[in-house]
Amino acid sequence: MTARTLTDMAVEVLSTADGRAKCEISRQHAETWFAARASGAALPVGTAFPPDHPARPAKPELLPPRDVPRRRPGSPAGRAALLHAVAHIELNAVDLHWDIIARFGHIPMPPGFYDDWVKAAAEESRHFNLICDCLESMGSHYGALPAHAGMWRAASDTVDDLFGRLAVVPMVLEARGLDVTPGMIEIFRKAGEDGAVKALEVIYAEEVGHVAYGSKWFNWLCGRDGLDPKDVFHDLVRRYFHGALKPPFNEEKRAEAGIPPDFYWPLADGQEAQADA
Ligand SMILES: [Fe+2]
Ligand SMILES: [Fe+2]
Repeated sequence: MTARTLTDMAVEVLSTADGRAKCEISRQHAETWFAARASGAALPVGTAFPPDHPARPAKPELLPPRDVPRRRPGSPAGRAALLHAVAHIELNAVDLHWDIIARFGHIPMPPGFYDDWVKAAAEESRHFNLICDCLESMGSHYGALPAHAGMWRAASDTVDDLFGRLAVVPMVLEARGLDVTPGMIEIFRKAGEDGAVKALEVIYAEEVGHVAYGSKWFNWLCGRDGLDPKDVFHDLVRRYFHGALKPPFNEEKRAEAGIPPDFYWPLADGQEAQADA
């Protein structure tokens, strides 16, 4: 293998279409990165040209959100559809974490920034595999149903704004995952589907870390530039995120991830008028 940079490795993941293959390459590259870091000879970050959209398998068919059939979790088919949607989110998350590395390689960041996103990408790869295993044990698979076409929008909207990327992807979208995952775990617990419960519990625990990486580096960048992180966060979410944030919020896990209530409550449904008054 020729000498490689981290951003080259990120582009390789982004350019791999098959979900399981993408996750295997993601896992291997994370191992390579951390082995080099442990040996004291970190790989260069480099710069690269990531694709506008990551490569994706021929299936699932990607549909506008309004055309994706509604998921009613009261039946096995409904629960399989719910897990299918989670698998789609996880695969997208693998690409999002490698994309932040590849897309912003030209902005000098401390090595810990790359450690965090490589680790997050490796965890997302595991999440995708765990959920695919659950789907397969239920007689389904990733690609069996249509999926949401709009998942890459946050990445496209923030393609040249690292502050915006951190605000919208980990601190809004992944933080939303912390709000909704406990309810999902309850659905599978009540249905006695222990495999799905275990997989979702792993995801729930590890996602706190991803949100924390987002708030850590967002605060770091704001501090470097002498900016008030709360004001910058509000401006960026209003610019790049389409719609209000939806309560109820998981205040405890958001706090654990370093996001205080005055970051998200002023952006919540029904709060905008009061916040601006
Ligand atoms: Fe995940
Ligand atoms: Fe994540």
